Amino acid sequence: MIFALGMLVSPSAQGLLGSFARTIRSVVRLRSTVGRVVLLAWMALGCHALAAVADTTWLDEMDLSRSKHAAGHLGRDKPLSIAGKTYQRGVATHGKSTIWIEPNGADRFTATVGVDDGAEKKPAVQFRVFVDGKKAFDSGAMKYGQAAKPVDVSLSGAKVVLLLVSDAGDGARHDLGNWADAKLEYSGTKPSTVAGPLPREEAVILTPKPGPAPRINGPRIYGARPGNPFLYRIPTQGERPITFAAEGLPASLKLDATTGIITGTTPKRGDYPITFTAKNSHGQTTRAFKLVSGDTLALTPSMGWNHWYAHYHHVSDKLMREAADVMISSGMADVGYEYVNIDDCWMNRVKSDDPMQVGPFRDSSGNILPNKHFPDMKQLTDYIHGKGLKAGIYTSPGPLTCAGFAGAYQHEAADAKQFADWGFDFLKYDWCHYRYVAEQETGPQLARFKKPYQLMGDLLKNQKRDMVFNLCQYGMLHVWTWGAEVGGNSWRTAGDLGFELDRVFEVALANAKHREYQKPGAWNDPDYIQIGFVGDAHSQAEPKPCPLTPTEQYSYMSLWALSASPLIYSGDMGKLDPFTLNVLCNPEVIDINQDPLGQCGRVIPCGEDLFVMIKDLEDGSKAIGLANAGELAAEVVAKWSDIDIQGKQLVRDVWRQHDLGTADGEYRAQVPRRGVVLLRLSPSQTP
Ligand code: GAL
Repeated sequence: MIFALGMLVSPSAQGLLGSFARTIRSVVRLRSTVGRVVLLAWMALGCHALAAVADTTWLDEMDLSRSKHAAGHLGRDKPLSIAGKTYQRGVATHGKSTIWIEPNGADRFTATVGVDDGAEKKPAVQFRVFVDGKKAFDSGAMKYGQAAKPVDVSLSGAKVVLLLVSDAGDGARHDLGNWADAKLEYSGTKPSTVAGPLPREEAVILTPKPGPAPRINGPRIYGARPGNPFLYRIPTQGERPITFAAEGLPASLKLDATTGIITGTTPKRGDYPITFTAKNSHGQTTRAFKLVSGDTLALTPSMGWNHWYAHYHHVSDKLMREAADVMISSGMADVGYEYVNIDDCWMNRVKSDDPMQVGPFRDSSGNILPNKHFPDMKQLTDYIHGKGLKAGIYTSPGPLTCAGFAGAYQHEAADAKQFADWGFDFLKYDWCHYRYVAEQETGPQLARFKKPYQLMGDLLKNQKRDMVFNLCQYGMLHVWTWGAEVGGNSWRTAGDLGFELDRVFEVALANAKHREYQKPGAWNDPDYIQIGFVGDAHSQAEPKPCPLTPTEQYSYMSLWALSASPLIYSGDMGKLDPFTLNVLCNPEVIDINQDPLGQCGRVIPCGEDLFVMIKDLEDGSKAIGLANAGELAAEVVAKWSDIDIQGKQLVRDVWRQHDLGTADGEYRAQVPRRGVVLLRLSPSQTP
């Protein structure tokens, strides 16, 4: 029986139980009073020892793949070393690091912390331990070479523990911090690092369901080129049937009153103010819309869907059609999403596991050939256009695309014409293999890097079709300073966000540094919205639920709205759930993104990991985000003096779509971990 009990407990407790059993057996054999007294005394002591016994789990043996910038010492070739003393066990961190632990009833966390002696630039680092959101240990700023500090934190009753390493005010580069000899003592279930979005959070739908009465959404200003085919579906929520009207519509355009789709030919250069009306049995609404016939497309950030992070190299005509269907049926098109964009892998390649993707790159006249998953590109774009939506395509200026499919190199003119003839409205032009071309060329680097984009930009402008031009070269050579000049309507400001999804705050902040280069028709692009079901960028596996917490997903969308970044969703359209749709489809959030001024918000830092982002809007109101990029809830204060606002303001909670009352001088809010409180402030009319 004792043995059976021993099976249920930990190895060290098993050892103790084993010796306990052996002693009982030998002492009972004595059958003497002395023996019994000894036995009772031993049992009392033994039971006490048994109750106090604890197992140890070392931090370096826990699953650190779930943590940020932390590596178990055992995986390193050198022992950890702090102020000349080496440690055989522990976890090394690099830069800002977070390790979330579920203690599962553990009693204590102990460690010895300090800056690793191998940190080249002699940085300062700070170590903190938070237990259920409360600070339980703070090393303060620890300098390079400073003696290690002991950590001893009680975990009694704790649900979640955060081990946080941050820079101590001198920047996080070269920060090597050590949780040396770090371990948890426990009796019962072994503590573990937290799997999945951290920490666990309920997905709350904040956006109220749209009512049955019509509500017209979408941009208030829209650019198109004179004489080219025109297509626009008036994004409108509300119960169908809806009857549409458009006062001031130029004669060359025609509105289908039942679908709200406008087609025809863009009129001659000029501004055309139009008033849309939508009416159903529940009511009627109007919205002003300005058509600007001229040279500039994308007067507001593009909105749509791109297949990459959902389907990678499994893309097909069928998937694209399904995405277009869902864009309509899910209501996404009713809030302004319109582009249905194919990314890489629609062409042929030399070798593939999928024989449908292998074939000649071009026909005998040099025209690019789609692979067998795309039997007829014209029919595909007709299908998408039939719904009032627009179609996008992808290629590379290099001989091959990133995924090794046929690129446009030396066929640029033929391809630009082909894309226009097929009926595409958007081109993503992805540098990739052009690198090898640029390397062979001589002359200033900037000229070599601009050249392929200038070439395609000019070609697109000369097509008899409006095609939005999206530059993808990951921000090289400050593309934001010359992207518009070569004809770009948007340019990626960084690498693939799919590889660093947990850095949406950091990526948005880096993107906002280039805010002055952004204007209507020319947008900084921090990459796609990857929420809902997305395929991991490393494994390119089947889409799985997004690894971000619900709060982080709201923040993602809030930051993209405040930055006026293109809103291109890149998740599985076949698996959109109500939570994801609520994040994607709040028309008040989208209005901030689509505001005609096209401003990217200014960032005002206001504490460690805290900032306010403020965006001027055309109607004189301001969108502000109270943002907390840190790991714990914090109060964020927007002071009028900092954000250049005067007087009493009406404060509106944009996600919940309700007014919070008025504020004067400042607005403060408790902001959750990695959260953004998104507000719209308008001068209050009341005295
Ligand atoms: C990358 C690009 C991604 C995606 C991919 C396709 O270079 O940044 O957005 O297009 O190529 O291979």
